[in-house]
Amino acid sequence: MAEPCINPVARAFSAAAHSYDSEAALQREVGLRLLEQLPSMLQVDSWLDLGCGTGYFCQQLQQRFPDAQGTGLDIAPGMLQQARALRPGPDYLCADAAAVPLAAQSQDLVFSSLALQWCEDFASILAEAGRILRPGGVLAFSSLASGTLYELGLSWQAAGSTGRVNRFRTQDDYRQHCANSGLQTLQLECRPHVQHYADVRAVTRHLRGIGAQHLQQGERPGLLGRNAYQRLLHSYEQLRQPAGLPVTWQVVYGVLRKPA
Ligand SMILES: C[S@@+](CC[C@H](N)C(=O)[O-])C[C@H]1O[C@@H](n2cnc3c(N)ncnc32)[C@H](O)[C@@H]1O
Repeated sequence: MAEPCINPVARAFSAAAHSYDSEAALQREVGLRLLEQLPSMLQVDSWLDLGCGTGYFCQQLQQRFPDAQGTGLDIAPGMLQQARALRPGPDYLCADAAAVPLAAQSQDLVFSSLALQWCEDFASILAEAGRILRPGGVLAFSSLASGTLYELGLSWQAAGSTGRVNRFRTQDDYRQHCANSGLQTLQLECRPHVQHYADVRAVTRHLRGIGAQHLQQGERPGLLGRNAYQRLLHSYEQLRQPAGLPVTWQVVYGVLRKPA
């Protein structure tokens, strides 16, 4: 089947596919925490990892549910190439999370870690998950909320740049969408995760390495005028902590069940 046409998000993640695993410490931590939140008695004959990237959590799900039929889905062909090579086993599909090519009521578990923040229409993602889940099935997701990368956003502002950090849904948006989804919310919480870097260059290198360079829209630091770039550096330096320059990720964790 032809791969869907490449949108900017898919292009960025495909380009980062080879560096992703070595830069994805936070993504590992978040996904493992999400796995811990799955209901303990959940019976799973089939699962879907939505936005599976290089397939790390497909492998985790396979270990946890060894007899189940597993599917990894991602919009970035480059990520899927890595997944197929490094973590064979599940079916891997190249598709958009908003239009999953799987039958209604075919899955017991839809797992999605740090992918859905890229999908503009969260309501339609929840509707799609509700369509493919069997009654009693579970959607477990982690995603990013506003406040993510706020240090970088402040520094862009100080540089007087039109560049800005992508806007994320607020925690309240997530709450509202989940409440209106027809799924039962078992759990919804937001936790900040803070990473530290030696300097701004290391921050932007990391964002590129995980395919998230488009988090900074507009100008790139390298294209700022010299004075503006100095203002950006100076502003970020004001936030320095003993461990380095902080980068905050506001992570939403949600576990929802389709009513039986
Ligand atoms: C930060 S990575 C997370 C990958 C994996 N879940 C993990 O935790 O390692 C985000 C992934 O979501 C995928 N993605 C973004 N938008 C998507 C969409 N609309 N449909 C399917 N996948 C999408 C990207 O291609 C990327 O592989």
